[in-house]
Amino acid sequence: MGLFGTKKSMGQVDKANLPSHVAVIMDGNGRWAQKRGLPRSAGHRAGAEMFRRIGTYCKELRIDYLTVYAFSTENWKRPQDEVDGIMRLLKQYLHECIDTMERDRNRLRFLGDLSVLDEETRALICRTDEISARIDGFQANICLNYGGRGEIVHAARAFAADCAAGKYAPDSLSEEGFERYLYSAGLPSPELLIRPGGEKRISNYLLWQCAYSEFYYTDTLWPDFDEREFDKALIAYQSRDRRFGGLSRQ
Ligand code: FPP
Repeated sequence: MGLFGTKKSMGQVDKANLPSHVAVIMDGNGRWAQKRGLPRSAGHRAGAEMFRRIGTYCKELRIDYLTVYAFSTENWKRPQDEVDGIMRLLKQYLHECIDTMERDRNRLRFLGDLSVLDEETRALICRTDEISARIDGFQANICLNYGGRGEIVHAARAFAADCAAGKYAPDSLSEEGFERYLYSAGLPSPELLIRPGGEKRISNYLLWQCAYSEFYYTDTLWPDFDEREFDKALIAYQSRDRRFGGLSRQ
């Protein structure tokens, strides 16, 4: 507290300098539950709830895209009941979206290899894709059975197949052209990548897309990463000097 009882300001979010796309690695759900003597599934439930809250907050701030890492290609190694619990949460979320997204004008997109998902989940995703295609506005992206290296290999194979079919010559490929083969085709790169949960690694997340993203990490666990925490990440982002390999703007 200051001399006259005013709280020392931590700075404010500049609404005129917001990122258009924020990516998040939702880490720390298990530890959040463990700290409370709860099963890990309770941590994922709380994590899914925080995803809804932060999505709503992004929309309020007029951030265009929020992309979260819900399930990696490596997460299948977890105990079966944990995997089943996460997939159940996703289905529940998909049902909610089908009921509300048109009214609320929220688009939803999935990035990853969805071919291995069960039929019901794939059918629900088709419905959310159809609804998303006829509305515009805020878009949440969920990375599911996603790995950054796998995404690049998948894209390289698709381009190679197009070359073999005579559609393109191999040396005609540009960076922009390659991006059209990624799961994220059409999305702008995230300006800000947030990792709660204390780790400081990228964990095979959006490897191509995060080439120039500002990285913000914090020990706060994802289920505790609320609007105030999100503001702190935005304020940190706004204090960065983004040079993209060039020189400072001043
Ligand atoms: C990482 O925390 C979290 C995951 C691997 C799963 C995240 C999934 C959800 C929040 C549910 C998805 C649902 C929707 C609707 C998006 P961790 O389990 O590795 O945590 P720990 O490091 O503390 O063990």
